Amino acid sequence: ITKVVKIDESNISREAVREAGRILAGGGLVAFPTETVYGLGANGLDARAAAKIYEAKGRPSDNPLILHIARMEELEPLAAEIPEEARALASAFWPGPMTMILKKTAAVPYETTGGLDTVAVRMPSHPVANGIISAAGVPIAAPSANKSGRPSPTKASHVIEDMDGRIDMIVDGGEVGIGLESTIIDMSEGIPTVLRPGYITMDMIRRITGRVELDKASMGQMAPGVHPKAPGMKYRHYAPKAELTIFRGRPEISAAAISSALKKAASEGKKAGVICTEESIGLYESPVKKCVGSRRNPETIAHNLYDVLRAFDEEQVDCIFSESFEDYPLSGAIMNRLIKAAGHRIVECQE
Ligand code: TXA
Ligand code: MG
Repeated sequence: ITKVVKIDESNISREAVREAGRILAGGGLVAFPTETVYGLGANGLDARAAAKIYEAKGRPSDNPLILHIARMEELEPLAAEIPEEARALASAFWPGPMTMILKKTAAVPYETTGGLDTVAVRMPSHPVANGIISAAGVPIAAPSANKSGRPSPTKASHVIEDMDGRIDMIVDGGEVGIGLESTIIDMSEGIPTVLRPGYITMDMIRRITGRVELDKASMGQMAPGVHPKAPGMKYRHYAPKAELTIFRGRPEISAAAISSALKKAASEGKKAGVICTEESIGLYESPVKKCVGSRRNPETIAHNLYDVLRAFDEEQVDCIFSESFEDYPLSGAIMNRLIKAAGHRIVECQE
């Protein structure tokens, strides 16, 4: 049985944090909130504990885990080499939603890194995450706390849906802030390279290091022979049950295209849902409209995206049409997830 404990972020129960730390140190599994998404934690230096994570998630074992630390001193024993640029990024963005790939030391088991000679490390800023990692006293391997192939959890109820009965404890710290997983930057060879876009944008990284590249395969536009450097990026992710199609183009143009697609679906006797915004929800005639946020505040779109994708699985719809969300600093992160959820079904809407 899984114990669910509520924690108030502004008045954190020391008892609950200590209990979570004890379970982790003893080789058990605890899900906890971070500022990005909920993580499913285990002792990252214990191969058997890491194996339990793969089992609980149903995750392929070649997909490596991120090690979470609470203080900078904890990085040295994990990373064989810490380039100057990595130190600069750490002081700019840690604690926070950034993961760095570095050459690993022998202390990090290959079971955690999916057999790679590199290790992913992140220092989260969420006080509950930080407290639990400190209490455990070891680096905590924590993938997103969803079953493999489902959207990452942004609320404890999502974690309960996927993990109840499969892990020892769920720490319910309410809704997470950002709602999309951390930016992953490969610092293990030469030019800093973004393997997974997130809240920390390319521009923010460039301001610190002066240079940054985007892994060409990260958007999943995989030409034959092109493989993403983050093994997790090759799996079909975040896919809702109903077929999702993105309509790309200026909001007014795509709204018109979605409206005619809705009419066509209705005439074929299909039930179609829509992912739209506060600004556009009034434009559509559909029995199932889900508002993902406001274009005036794109952070709301990142925050709600996974919840909306999950919510569609409870709806009896045949297909889902989504607007696209370009032109914001967070667009790289948002569209990366949405395009994968859509399995690359994109309609380009002409002016
Ligand atoms: O925001 C986050 O990063 C969340 C929270 C819980 O911290 N965690 C998370 O973990 O998103 P996960 O396991 O769902 O995604 C980790 C990604 C995968 O795509 C994996 O392939 C990649 O990081 N990764 C891990 N270690 C790597 C390595 N050594 N080299 C390349 N990619 C790596
Ligand atoms: Mg994940």
